[in-house]
Amino acid sequence: MDLQPVQLNAMLETAVDAARLAGRQALDQMSLVEVSVKNGSELVTEADLACQEIIVQRIKADFPDHGFIAEEGEHGRPFKHPPQGDEPVWWVIDPIDGTNNFAHGMPVFAVSIGAVIGGSPVVGVIYDPAADLMFTATQGGRALMNDRSIQAGDDPVSLFVSVGLDSHWGNAMPPWLPTILAKTRFRNLGTTALQMAYVAKGGMVATIVCTPKLWDLAAGAVIAQAAGALLTDWQGRPLWPMDLAGYDGCPIPCIVANPTAHRQLLAIIRG
Ligand code: IPD
Ligand code: CA
Ligand code: CA
Repeated sequence: MDLQPVQLNAMLETAVDAARLAGRQALDQMSLVEVSVKNGSELVTEADLACQEIIVQRIKADFPDHGFIAEEGEHGRPFKHPPQGDEPVWWVIDPIDGTNNFAHGMPVFAVSIGAVIGGSPVVGVIYDPAADLMFTATQGGRALMNDRSIQAGDDPVSLFVSVGLDSHWGNAMPPWLPTILAKTRFRNLGTTALQMAYVAKGGMVATIVCTPKLWDLAAGAVIAQAAGALLTDWQGRPLWPMDLAGYDGCPIPCIVANPTAHRQLLAIIRG
């Protein structure tokens, strides 16, 4: 199903509104949060749940037939509610990306809201409420930060630019990681969504992640690609289309980068 730009823009407006509401809620709750552990190694707070509820209800008010995949479900599983009717639109939501920062009182986190049609992300909103930075894009449109156009650019990897990395790499570091650490300034902000937004803005030449979930990536995919960046797996293959009905929260190792850095970093990764 192809949606017209006017329909995508209506969805974008709703997502921006939902992201602002959730961002305000998160900032309000930041100093009073109750923290608990989920899946053995991840933190979750009352604010994650409250913000997710705000976003889902705001989107449902405008698009009652759309479906949802959101990070905070029951028993460590994502919240999943398939689309109804003949508009197979999935909203993919991370209410607070950067929960560990948030839970420790560090205001470096983002609300991430994407919409996916036919297995490909078509609307993306990433909102950093502490800095009041709203990153947006629709498929085929421009990438914007607070309504100003942004571009990923084409800076090559060097010691003068930053590459965003993941904060955890599973049980074994990939063999190419030290080479990348040595060739560039590496960063980890504790929020993959915001790192993708900064690749879209040209603030980082790339972000390489090992364990992101769909809700870390869906919004950033639209924004980064609209800004001229490339998003692939570590072999250089596209991530989309993806089967959302079958998605169970598995990690999606990937690289998002400007085209020059993408080529250089893939060459290092593939050896
Ligand atoms: C986390 C952040 C972090 C990444 C983790 C994610 P959360 O998301 O994106 O940067 O390294 O893999 O789980 O838990 O704060 O939504
Ligand atoms: Ca996340
Ligand atoms: Ca989260």
